[in-house]
Amino acid sequence: MKVEKKSEIRFPYSEKVLEHFRNPHNVGKMENPDGKGLEGSPACGDMVAVYIKVKPETKVIEDVKFESYGCASNIATGSVITDIARGKTLEEAKKITWKQASEELGGLPPIKAHCSVLAVEGLRAAIRDYEEKHGLVTEKEPTTEEVVRRRLKHVMNPLTGLDIIRTDLILKITVVDGTVRVVVDLPSDHQFASAIKEDIMEKLGSLWDVKSVEVVFTA
Ligand code: FES
Repeated sequence: MKVEKKSEIRFPYSEKVLEHFRNPHNVGKMENPDGKGLEGSPACGDMVAVYIKVKPETKVIEDVKFESYGCASNIATGSVITDIARGKTLEEAKKITWKQASEELGGLPPIKAHCSVLAVEGLRAAIRDYEEKHGLVTEKEPTTEEVVRRRLKHVMNPLTGLDIIRTDLILKITVVDGTVRVVVDLPSDHQFASAIKEDIMEKLGSLWDVKSVEVVFTA
């Protein structure tokens, strides 16, 4: 009985997925990237980081790398989308979708769609980061608590691997006259306190109408 069941088990990935998983392209950390995106998946808690180098005159992605703390689907998608993104303009690269990546990989099991989405969101976050740092974001949405909350979904809580909003690490957010105040549910001498603070400052400091960011710890 057991033997019969075992013989029914099939590896759910296409050859192409396995090939990119075993030998992923463009893997690694980039020193001094022009744009950096870090995304976490609410579905599984995995993370992906994407780095881009952009030619300022043409806005062409000259180099792109990724680091994945996800599964085979995530690594294979990261490999494929970074291949596709290299040499594209930011506008073209924004249009890369997880479906396109999945097709390129010969399909992914439906349960693994979120892994592919995660890699694509990492690339988009890196592009967005570049655009914000270079004043290319045209819509000037005023910074509200909601905007801050959305931004903080891109700051990871290293204790869990999920972001600091979903893990209820943020007790309070206030925005008054361009000053954003964020209260974090951690003591200031916690081992991750300074890394989290730095990440929050970086994510909020680039908002167009924010003059200062205060990160307050509970003790
Ligand atoms: Fe988390 Fe695939 S299961 S990235």
